[in-house]
Amino acid sequence: MKAVILVGGLGTRLRPLTCNTPKPMIPLVNQPFIEWMLLRLRDQGINEVILAVQYLADRFRATLGDGSRLGMKLHVVEEPEPRGTAGAVKNVEHLLDGPTFIFNGDVMTDLDLQAMLAFHRERQSKVTISLTPVEDPTQFGLVEMDTNNHVKRFLEKPRVEDITTNLINAGTYIIEPDVFRYVPPNQFYMFERGLFPVVLQTGDPMYGFPSRAYWTDIGKPQTYIDVHHDILIGKVKYGFRGTEIANRVWLEGDATIHPSAQIVGPVVIGDGTVVERGARIIGPTVLGARCHIGPDASLEGAVLWDDNTIGEAVTLRNSVLGRGNSIGPKTFISDGAIIGDDCSFGPENRLERGIRIWPGTVLGEKAISF
Ligand code: GDD
Ligand code: MG
Repeated sequence: MKAVILVGGLGTRLRPLTCNTPKPMIPLVNQPFIEWMLLRLRDQGINEVILAVQYLADRFRATLGDGSRLGMKLHVVEEPEPRGTAGAVKNVEHLLDGPTFIFNGDVMTDLDLQAMLAFHRERQSKVTISLTPVEDPTQFGLVEMDTNNHVKRFLEKPRVEDITTNLINAGTYIIEPDVFRYVPPNQFYMFERGLFPVVLQTGDPMYGFPSRAYWTDIGKPQTYIDVHHDILIGKVKYGFRGTEIANRVWLEGDATIHPSAQIVGPVVIGDGTVVERGARIIGPTVLGARCHIGPDASLEGAVLWDDNTIGEAVTLRNSVLGRGNSIGPKTFISDGAIIGDDCSFGPENRLERGIRIWPGTVLGEKAISF
C-alpha cells in the first residue's frame, strides 16, 4: 500500500521554530516529526511513501534518503510551484496504483489505518475522509454526513453561523486513483475547496470515517507544546526511543546527572546532556541532545531542542527553546514563550505570555524585565 504525505506548507504559524527548519522536520520528542510519521506508517503496513514537498527537497533527502534506513521506500517529489493539496497529489499520480492513503503532514494522530482501510473497502468508497471531533471547527474543514456516513457537505473554514457538527476533516484520506481525473493537471487545486465539492456533485461514493483516536494539528506553538505534554503523559500511543532509567524518565544515550539534581517524570533526556547540581527537571519535559542545564535551574513543561545551555537558577516553564541557545543566569521564561535558534540572553531576563523570539537574538542583562 502506498501513501502520499503533503508537506508543502511554509509553517508560518509555527515561526520562529520553522525559520530554519521545515515544519515536518521539527523535532517531536527529539525525532523529526516526519520520521515519526513514516515509522508509524511502516508499522501499519504502508511501505512506500511519496513526500510531496514544495521546497527544501534536498533537506528531506539528506535526512531521510531513499527511506531504506527506516525500512521503507521513499520518494521526495518537489513541485515546480505550489500546486495546492490535490494538485500536489496529481503531480505524483504516475507513482500511484490502487487505493492510496493521503496525509496532511502536520497532524499527530494514532488513528488505526487498517480499520479505516477496511471501512473504505467494505463501503466500496471512492474517497474516505477521516473525521475527528473538535470544539471549534472554524479553523478546519467541516464535514456533514447522513446516518450511513455518506458525506453530504464539505465546508472549509466554516463561519460560526454555518457550524452544524463538531466533526471535521482530520487530514487523512483514502482515495481511489481514478478520482484524480477530476483534478486539473499542472494547476493549483485543493481537496478542500475543489475536489471534495466536485465529488459531492458527481455522486461518487464519499464516506466519512469518524474516530476518537488522538488527534492534533501541530501547526501552532501552543499545540506543539500540548502534543509533547500529551505524548509524555501517555494520552497518545507512542514508542519512546530511550531507556527508561527511572519511573517515566527516558534516557536517549548517555547523560551526566548530578546526584543532587531532581528529575520527576515524565521526562526525556537527549544524548550527551548534562544536568548540574540542584537542578530540577519536572515533567512533562523534553531535553534535546547535548544540552547543559546549570546549577539550581528549574524546568517544568519545557521542550528543549539540541545544544542549549541553561544558566544557573534559570526558570523555564511551559516554553519551547529551538537549537543552540544560551540562557543567562536567573532568566525566567514561561507561559508558552517560543525562543528560536542560536539566541544569547544575558542574566535576569523575563520572557512570558507567548512571546516569540527570532533566531539569533541577543539580549543583554535585564534587557526584557518587568
Ligand atoms: N505539497 C504541497 N503543496 N503541500 C501542501 C500545499 C501545496 O501546495 N498546501 C498545503 N500543503 C500541505 C501542508 O504542508 C499541510 O501538511 C497540509 O497540506 C494541510 O495544509 P495546512 O495549510 O496545514 O491546512 P490547514 O491546517 O489550514 O487545513 C487542513 O487541515 C485541517 C486538519 O488539520 C484542511 O485539510 C482542513 O480541512 C483540515 O480540517
Ligand atoms: Mg494544518
